[in-house]
Amino acid sequence: MYGDIVILSGAGISAESGIPTFRDSDGLWNNHRIEDVATIEAYYRNPEMVHDFYNELKKELQNAEPNPAHKAITRLQQEYKNGTVSVVTQNVDLLHEKAGNKNIYHIHGQINQAVCMNCAHVITTWGDVDTQTVCPQCGAVAMMKPNIVFFGENLLYMDKVDALLHKCKLFIAIGTSGAVYPANTFARITKYHGADTIEFNLHATVNNYDFDKHVMGKAGETFPEYVENLLKV
Ligand code: OAD
Repeated sequence: MYGDIVILSGAGISAESGIPTFRDSDGLWNNHRIEDVATIEAYYRNPEMVHDFYNELKKELQNAEPNPAHKAITRLQQEYKNGTVSVVTQNVDLLHEKAGNKNIYHIHGQINQAVCMNCAHVITTWGDVDTQTVCPQCGAVAMMKPNIVFFGENLLYMDKVDALLHKCKLFIAIGTSGAVYPANTFARITKYHGADTIEFNLHATVNNYDFDKHVMGKAGETFPEYVENLLKV
């Protein structure tokens, strides 16, 4: 049996909930240029367009439901007795929460929040946010940015996540391509500190030498089975 477990999730865990990934053939970045909607420069250049993009995405994500992979994490968290199980997610959807997961760190932000660029106040809303939105804390107008970590910005919660990566004995990546830094270094960090590493994906990812084991297939099918077996050990 292991000690603490860290699960890193990416868009692939939500694919079976009907949410497009970013880099697959039907992915979000196939229809949009990252430079237009996902960089801090794009936001400064054209905040209206960036707000429109995330307001639309928000509507899609609000109605999505968790799938068996998200639910298997809840089971693992409830039944695993040898340490804590933390979820570090790159996903801005709220499916981990909807499935009842705990100890969740949204390192890329979350779709139902906006942050004031003037005073750092964070609001939570499923309604639209735009350049007319007033910060309820400092009163600034046109300063509420989607609380999404754009390329060129720092990740959230990294002090806490670093500590979890150093301490964990098992690192599990689910549905992430490993294309985006720094989340794509987490497996190696945990390995240096003695953890076992395993990935769940449709196919082996590019940095696959960081993983001791690869489980190929849909996470909604492979991960619940893995949890079942892990809890037996
Ligand atoms: P990607 O779209 O880059 O990768 C999704 C991965 O999920 C791919 O490796 C797929 O093979 C895999 N996959 C697809 N369906 C799956 C399934 N049913 N079961 C298991 N695996 C499946 O998404 P991320 O790695 O999450 O940042 O991308 C990282 C970041 O890039 C995102 O957080 C986003 C984007 O820029 C922000 O929006 C801030």
